Amino acid sequence: MEKKNIDWANLGFSYVETDKRYVSHYKDGAWDDGALISDATVAISECAGVLQYAQTCFEGLKAYTTEDGHIVTFRPDLNAARLKSSCERLEIPVFPEERFIQAVSETVDANEAYVPPYGSGATLYVRPFIFGSSSVIGVAPADEYQFRVFTTPVGPYFKGGAKPLTIRVSDFDRAAPHGTGHIKAGLNYAMSLYAIVDAHKKGFDENMYLDPATRTKVEETGGANFLFVTKDNKVVTPKSDSILPSITRRSLVTVAKDYLGLEVEEREVFFDEVKDFAECGLCGTAAVISPVGKIVDHGNEICLPSGMTEMGPVTKKLYDTLTGIQMGRIEAPEGWIHVIK
Ligand code: PLP
Ligand code: COI
Repeated sequence: MEKKNIDWANLGFSYVETDKRYVSHYKDGAWDDGALISDATVAISECAGVLQYAQTCFEGLKAYTTEDGHIVTFRPDLNAARLKSSCERLEIPVFPEERFIQAVSETVDANEAYVPPYGSGATLYVRPFIFGSSSVIGVAPADEYQFRVFTTPVGPYFKGGAKPLTIRVSDFDRAAPHGTGHIKAGLNYAMSLYAIVDAHKKGFDENMYLDPATRTKVEETGGANFLFVTKDNKVVTPKSDSILPSITRRSLVTVAKDYLGLEVEEREVFFDEVKDFAECGLCGTAAVISPVGKIVDHGNEICLPSGMTEMGPVTKKLYDTLTGIQMGRIEAPEGWIHVIK
């Protein structure tokens, strides 16, 4: 298979249209058979549920070329399960989990020419999403939906790659107590746009959101969960009902315990503790693990001892092990790697 002529090493995290996408329509109470199509545009009613009341949710995962030349995805069953829980919370009919995995595989396969080569530093980002496509004007769920999957080759989510980030404590919340913070709803991202644009204007890479009820506990950023490392090498990660259950974070907990023999605490993390940590990273499909060097709380700077030039040593080990598993250099736990071809 001849690859597209793309400068893989210099890709950022932006949309590149690829050849094929998957679409299935939900109508009269059932999903149709679905198909791969070429047209990247969507034509829907001006009054569609997604356009009027943001009835949409999505997933994000990546396809990798492994060291021995296979194309694989990482734990797509967990994306399927999370999309199911997002759909249930948004009154969207669930797209069956085994069909989700099949649709992702078919879409990646159909865009094989865009799957970055092993060692290029890039990956193929896969974006499954569902939206209400029929018209609604009173506030209600739509009757018809589309489930789609597209792919786009990507490089690092943050411009500097592995350069430590500077983040700030946000004055805005991304989630409400008992709200939708734990699902991957488009609306969570819409409401974070003002905060991220403002953060960028002020020179910060991301926002650290605190818990919306008490503003004393660390939640997550706009697109990643937090991992901290204590001075005695314990991995600590916030537990909260209003953060997205990151598949990367859950995988890193296993990597830390079972591959690196580290102690892991998944618990509430008070912001007051942050000044005592040795390392901090943002973890997610897009972010992988992006190190944080500095956290600014209304002018008060917390400078992580790991510094502003490279990843801390534990973060680096976690990063190398996780990406080693994803790229086939390190044996994966049973069921983590889904081979497409
Ligand atoms: N938190 C938020 C708000 C996200 O958007 C993401 C990205 O998916 C994550 C965390 C990381 O989740 P995952 O590791 O499943 O990609
Ligand atoms: C992902 O990591 O897949 C996400 O959806 C995060 C988003 C900010 C790109």
